[in-house]
Formats: sequence, structure tokens, C-alpha cells
Amino acid sequence: MSNRTIVAMPGDGIGKVVLDEAIKVLNKAGLNADYVEADIGWEFWCAEGNPLPQRTLDLIKIHKIGLFGAITSKPKDEAFEGLVPELQGKDLVYSSPIVSLRQHFGLDICLRPCRTYTGNPLNFIRRGPNDSIEEPEVDVAIFRQNTEGLYGGVEWSNPPDKVYDALMTHPKFSQNFGDAPKEEVSVSTRIFTKKYTERIVRAAFEHAKKYGYKSVTVCEKPNVIRETSGMMYKMAQQIQKADFPGIELWNTNIDAQMMWLTKNPENYGVIVAGNMFGDIVSDGFAGLIGGLGFACSAQYNPETGIGVFEPTHGSAPKYADYPVSIVNPIAMIESACMMLDFIDEQTIAEKIRKAVSEVVVEGKIQTYDMAKMSGQADVVEKGAASTTEMADAIIEKL
Ligand code: NAI
Ligand code: MG
Repeated sequence: MSNRTIVAMPGDGIGKVVLDEAIKVLNKAGLNADYVEADIGWEFWCAEGNPLPQRTLDLIKIHKIGLFGAITSKPKDEAFEGLVPELQGKDLVYSSPIVSLRQHFGLDICLRPCRTYTGNPLNFIRRGPNDSIEEPEVDVAIFRQNTEGLYGGVEWSNPPDKVYDALMTHPKFSQNFGDAPKEEVSVSTRIFTKKYTERIVRAAFEHAKKYGYKSVTVCEKPNVIRETSGMMYKMAQQIQKADFPGIELWNTNIDAQMMWLTKNPENYGVIVAGNMFGDIVSDGFAGLIGGLGFACSAQYNPETGIGVFEPTHGSAPKYADYPVSIVNPIAMIESACMMLDFIDEQTIAEKIRKAVSEVVVEGKIQTYDMAKMSGQADVVEKGAASTTEMADAIIEKL
């Protein structure tokens, strides 16, 4: 028995495979921990009508630290078709269990680092002067507000009268939307609160200070979305002035940022954004460093110390049934390293990161994505490493 228990949530599809491999790496790297498996995902929706059972929430509450693979989430109608016959026709509501988990525990800080792996054949390259080829080194840390904004779930189609009447009091609404019949109006809100905006901005500055980044960029759209983006930028100005004068504050619009991403990604350090723009900009940067097979994330609540660590990819159902798993486990393994940072096991985290770097630089073991193959079941026969072979190669280097 160790004195630390980690809640392992494999979820669906490839989530199960990559989580197993990551735990294998953690064990071999010397982390002294027990794991308790917790139920989440499609299987539990179909069987119980709840993809995030209370017993899973209880385990996270007790043990505080979770590793999560990925889940399958489906649109409303398809979700109902999946239910066992006993649950058909009952008044059940399907919602993505990972989004529910974030909201339940208020995991408001989401960190998605994107750092170039030397030697990764998937690294972004661009044309430089005299037709030279340049490979800019990307090292950004994206702080995404994880619980509010456009993903906050406050939305209506054919809104209730009270909501509609309140909207009609806004001159822009009555002018621009007042002619549309109420039944034809859909509204998704973008709510930011001072408390959580301040928390994400502060977390970004603290990270910049701790790891020596020279700038924090607020990546929103304050010139158009004046109230919410505007609040985040204004707060960043105040925080920078009061507490982080040594760190530069930059302001980019999300649309322009997506263009600059490929022009000069090496210029950026820490980036902070609301929920949706953070999701977008982090996927954009992830594409420069190898894509979903490499993109890791941490999400946590700084007050309670509850943290859940997961790759940003989903359950990739089309690969889930291959007799030999072909997906890249690095995103999950790097997410486990972020967990190690969070629980003050940096030495083990660095050991694993070094092992991953060595395998990538050497280039002898490459999963299908790194080998630039199309993800068919026969890629391993054609020379790509399987999920297990990649994890074993990393373990070999420890
Ligand atoms: P996905 O991330 O599962 O897969 C998209 C494609 O990315 C795959 O077909 C594959 O080509 C590639 N890919 C993903 N992970 C990879 C890995 N580790 N190594 C190599 N290639 C990899 O996204 P998709 O297909 O849009 O969604 C599938 C399911 O996953 C859906 O039900 C979706 O709702 C769910 N999902 C869950 C997430 C989560 O659990 N946090 C996040 C994103 C999607
Ligand atoms: Mg995403």
C-alpha cells in the first residue's frame, strides 16, 4: 500500500488502451501509488442512464487526483438509441461526462502546454529566406478557462418568456433579432465571472513567472466581444501592473492569432483565453507540435486541490476495435507527467519526459501518425509501432 491513490478513469475506446500504458510507465518510472478504477463514459450511459455515476464522483472527492483516458459522446438522438430497453422512454438527460466532471468539481484552470519535440517528423516547418526551410521551436503554455463562457451550458432554443423579454430590453437584440419569431431564436450565452476570470489570468501570470516566460498573451476579441473578452483583458492589465511588472502583456484577437500561429509561433509564451477560444487556440498550437498524439492537458481547482489529467484527444472509436492498438500513447503519458508536476513528483516527471524525448529523437520507434501513415489496421505490419511498443520503448529509456 502506498499513501497515494489515483483514480483511473479509462472511459471509452482508445482511452482504455492509452491509460493502461501510461500507468505502466508511471509504475516503471518509480511512482509509488495505488490506482482505483472508476466508471465513466458511454457504457455507463447505456447501462445505467448516467455516464458519470455518483460512485465515480465520490472516488474523486476522496482521492483528489484523477487520470482520464477519453470518452465517447454522441448527439441527443443517438444517445437515446444506445440505452438498454429498461431505460428507453425514461426522462433522462445525456450530457458529456467530461464536461460534467469539470463543472461538478469546478476544475476551472485548464493548462495545455505545446512544446516542440526535437526530431518529431510531425513538427511544423515553414519556408524562410531564400527558400530555406525553417523549423521554429514552439514552447507555449495555454491557460484555458474551463468552466464558463460559451461552454457553460446556459442556452435555449425558443427561450422562455422571461428570458426573451429580458433580451428584448437590449437595444441590439430588439433591433437585430426582434423581428424573428421567438420559436425560431436559439441563444447560447457567454458568461464570464470576475472570480474565475481573475483566477485563470493569475494562473497564467504565475506560470510565466515560475518558468521564465517573457510574455502573457490574452487571446480573445475585446474589440468586438466587449463585455467578456474586455473584462479578461482589463483584468490582465490590472494584474500585470500590480503584481507582474516584469512580464509583458500582449493582446491578440483569436482570428489573427490563428494566422500568426503559422507565421511566428516561436514568439509566444503563455497564452490565456476563455473556454472556447482556449479550446481553439490550443488545438491550433497542438497541430504544430505533432497533433492529437502529443497534446496533453491538466485541469484543476486550485482551492480544493482536485485535478484531472487527460490527453486532449477523444476515444477515436474507429481505432478502438483493431486487434492491435495503433494510437500514440504519448499524449496520455505526457498528461500523466503533468499530474506528477501537480503532486510534486517532478523528478519522476522529468525522467519520463526525457525518455519520451529520447525515443522521439531516435526515430526508430514511431506510431502510425509519426510515420505519416493512414490509420489502418495493418500499419504495424508495415513497420509502425503499436501503442504498446511505443510505451515499451519509453520504458526502456527510463
Ligand atoms: P478523436 O480525438 O477521438 O479522434 C480524431 C482523430 O485523431 C482520430 O481518428 C485519429 O486519426 C486521431 N487521433 C486521436 N487520438 C490519437 C492518438 N492518440 N494517436 C494518434 N492519432 C490519434 O476525435 P473525434 O473522432 O472527433 O471524436 C471521437 C469521439 O471522442 C467522439 O465521441 C467525441 O465526442 C469524443 N471526444 C472526447 C473527448 C474527451 O474525452 N475529452 C475529446 C474529443 C472528442
Ligand atoms: Mg478540443
